[in-house]
Amino acid sequence: MVELNRHAEERRDKEDGQADAIAALANLVAGRRPGVYLWGETGRGKSWLADRAVMAAWDRGIPSLCIREREFLQAATGAARGDGGWCDQLIAAARSVSLLCLDEFGRTRRITEVQQDALDQLVDDRMDPRLRTIVVTNIDREHLAADTCRGATLASRIVGLCGPPVFIDGPDWRHG
Ligand SMILES: Nc1ncnc2c1ncn2[C@@H]1O[C@H](COP(=O)(O)OP(=O)(O)OP(=O)(O)O)[C@@H](O)[C@H]1O
Ligand SMILES: [Mg+2]
Repeated sequence: MVELNRHAEERRDKEDGQADAIAALANLVAGRRPGVYLWGETGRGKSWLADRAVMAAWDRGIPSLCIREREFLQAATGAARGDGGWCDQLIAAARSVSLLCLDEFGRTRRITEVQQDALDQLVDDRMDPRLRTIVVTNIDREHLAADTCRGATLASRIVGLCGPPVFIDGPDWRHG
């Protein structure tokens, strides 16, 4: 019984930690900002919640896409090399889809100039007030420009797109 109560309490802590994120995602479509910057430490359920938001949008017939940043960066490199095919298609989809989730933003430590330009361009395109974007990351806003080689231009765009970060708190869901 004591054990059961402990598990129930832990689950409540985890779900409480996600409350702001759930509200921000629910408000995204109606909200004033076209983006949400969802950040928190590993295992807090950022990808899980963002996936659910994307699936819910699909169920309502809204064209949506969830990609990891490293997939976008690989496509950017391929497109610049003229590989065409899936690289061009993925970049075009990311730039224009109604709801985009860009997961694991900032996880690739070193990016090339071509990749940096592609990310800047992506965020510029996502500023379109008809589009909605979820940026999922472990990087808090203070470290956005400093912590990676992404630089001030991208940090400025991300803040313009998403406004203040939404923090996911609580314990690591992966620890049972
Ligand atoms: N509200 C929830 N209900 C049930 N399971 C959840 C919930 N939130 C997260 N999980 C589970 O917790 C695990 C970790 O979540 P997730 O992968 O989304 O973490 P994350 O914050 O994206 O971590 P990382 O920063 O390492 O990518 C997942 O396996 C997911 O199934
Ligand atoms: Mg994740």
